[in-house]
Amino acid sequence: MSRVKQIELGKSGLKVPNIALGCMRIESRPKEVAKRTIQTAFDLGINFFDHADIYGKELGGSEKHFGQVFSELSINREDIILQSKVGIRGPFNNGIKGEFYDLSKDHIMTTVENSLRNLQTDYLDVLLLHRNDTLFEPEEVAEAFDALYSSGKVKHFGVSNHTPTQIELLKKFLGQELVANQLQFSAAHTGMIDFGLNVNRRNHESIDRDHGLLDYSRLHDMTIQPWSPVQGANGVFLNDPEYQALNDVLTEIGAKYNVDSEVMAIAWILRHPANMQVILGTMTPERIQNYAKASDITITREEWYEIYRRAGNTLP
Ligand SMILES: NC(=O)c1ccc[n+]([C@@H]2O[C@H](COP(=O)([O-])OP(=O)(O)OC[C@H]3O[C@@H](n4cnc5c(N)ncnc54)[C@H](OP(=O)(O)O)[C@@H]3O)[C@@H](O)[C@H]2O)c1
Repeated sequence: MSRVKQIELGKSGLKVPNIALGCMRIESRPKEVAKRTIQTAFDLGINFFDHADIYGKELGGSEKHFGQVFSELSINREDIILQSKVGIRGPFNNGIKGEFYDLSKDHIMTTVENSLRNLQTDYLDVLLLHRNDTLFEPEEVAEAFDALYSSGKVKHFGVSNHTPTQIELLKKFLGQELVANQLQFSAAHTGMIDFGLNVNRRNHESIDRDHGLLDYSRLHDMTIQPWSPVQGANGVFLNDPEYQALNDVLTEIGAKYNVDSEVMAIAWILRHPANMQVILGTMTPERIQNYAKASDITITREEWYEIYRRAGNTLP
């Protein structure tokens, strides 16, 4: 079994696989299946596990399940990379949506302590601010990051779903680099790319909804971590007749590389020279094995644009 490719996470010096495993859904898997899921990923070189305090049926549920399962595997903590997130708060609503955002120092500090306890570890490799809290005070975030960094509880920091100006505001106060921005991106969710291809036109696609995040991330060496890499507006697009043209082209081009449409959906993301780190959400070991094949495939420029167009996008 070949192992997935490694990239550097931002300018952190940390080598990470270009495909990571998101653990938002791990609590839904019984222990023995979850063990196989983690072990399968690890054996493929996918040793990067993405978490958040809010994942699971209860606050901390997914992190706790991962921590318990991982403690029964013969893998050293130092051989994996644990990332978690903070900032979305309840009343807890089945783990997915909060009702307010909180990047106060107290909440950041308390959440990291809980994540460490649930994951059964004494440090996080990476902590992301899950969403921007419009009431946040960057001085407080800086104090929290300084305390977490100097105590060795968090080694690297980043953001998720943040605009360039929100990042700049943070950076004015932070002593640490921001190494990653986790954002929704897939062949069926391409806002980050559309506006840059439609500059100065008067169509819907020319609207810059995120202040040039893609170019900003490349300019500032922040790794983009695409979340929901196989989903569009209505859930998983793979094999969904609503996305027939996209599925057809993924199958056609996949055949040239001896892989299926599912692998090609990930290879399409990884072809972008921004050097993204895909966060897979599947908890099925066989699917992880399949998706891992995408790590090493480099499709041509023509193929990349063909997939983009057949997903329903037009070029000026
Ligand atoms: N930062 C954020 O705001 C944010 C938001 C959402 C998610 N995330 C992170 O990103 C990770 C990935 O997100 P996601 O879970 O939405 O990603 P995803 O990989 O697009 O979707 C995963 C879901 O699709 C199913 N699936 C995968 N391949 C399939 C296929 N070939 N056919 C049918 N179903 C398929 C999986 O089912 P099986 O498990 O049954 O295979 C799972 O339910 C999460 O785990 C989380 O860590 C971050």
